[in-house]
Amino acid sequence: MACFILSRKKRRKFRDKHVYTSYQNGNQVLLILPDGREKLIKHHIYGLNVTFYGKENILKINEPENQIHDISVVFLGNNATAVVKNNVYCQLSSGCEFFIDKSSYVNDGGKFWLCEDGAKIIIGKDCAISWNVEFMGVDHHTILNDKGKVCNYPQTIEIRDHVWIGSGVKISKGVIVAENNIIGMGSIVTKSFLETNCIIAGNPAKIVKKNINWNVDAISKYIAEHPKAK
Ligand SMILES: CC(C)(COP(=O)(O)OP(=O)(O)OC[C@H]1O[C@@H](n2cnc3c(N)ncnc32)[C@H](O)[C@@H]1OP(=O)(O)O)[C@@H](O)C(=O)NCCC(=O)NCCS
Repeated sequence: MACFILSRKKRRKFRDKHVYTSYQNGNQVLLILPDGREKLIKHHIYGLNVTFYGKENILKINEPENQIHDISVVFLGNNATAVVKNNVYCQLSSGCEFFIDKSSYVNDGGKFWLCEDGAKIIIGKDCAISWNVEFMGVDHHTILNDKGKVCNYPQTIEIRDHVWIGSGVKISKGVIVAENNIIGMGSIVTKSFLETNCIIAGNPAKIVKKNINWNVDAISKYIAEHPKAK
């Protein structure tokens, strides 16, 4: 039996034609360029895995095209928008919104769950999100009160500017974390912290220190540049 090996160019052409047909139905993937303009993408990007089950969804990627890795986004419904960075795994239902600022980063294993209509997760500027952090914008299952009414609708998670979220943290729906805060590793954050410059830690998370600030550099680098900080 004859065996055909396609050239790289032909493989790419085949893949673009046959694998990414879901870019139809008004779904769009856009790259945010360094100058803020947006470029419509119609070809396969290594490191990006996007699935559109519905229509009119928009995915924007806040990374240079040649540096994209470990982005996986599933649009379960219609009219959702996700602005993502590397290491983001995200599921969105209809009308959902996920946004992370370009100046923030997520380490491996970041998971963002928005699988109920209208859920939102917003992450501000200069945030450091460590390994295996999970944002539960929704509960995934329904809770009923004693009158049989649903009592656990999705609520927006908002992480304001310059928040450091330690490894393995889990954040539940409706949580707002104010500026310059740190969340200690392994914490479970179930309510909002509107006071700035605090360390929040534990299960359930509570304020454990006040009047702090943090810098993204390692201590040795920071002291080399700011000797008076020693
Ligand atoms: C949050 C953190 C930065 C705080 O460091 P720190 O300022 O030296 O804090 P301390 O060790 O003085 O702890 C202060 C208090 O909070 C408690 N605490 C600190 N981290 C905690 C945590 N993750 N969970 C529960 N309690 C915690 C301490 O037990 C201590 O309690 P006490 O006052 O009753 O004694 C550190 O604990 C941490 O989580 N580091 C890991 C960060 C990370 O994940 N980095 C990955 C790279 S992004």
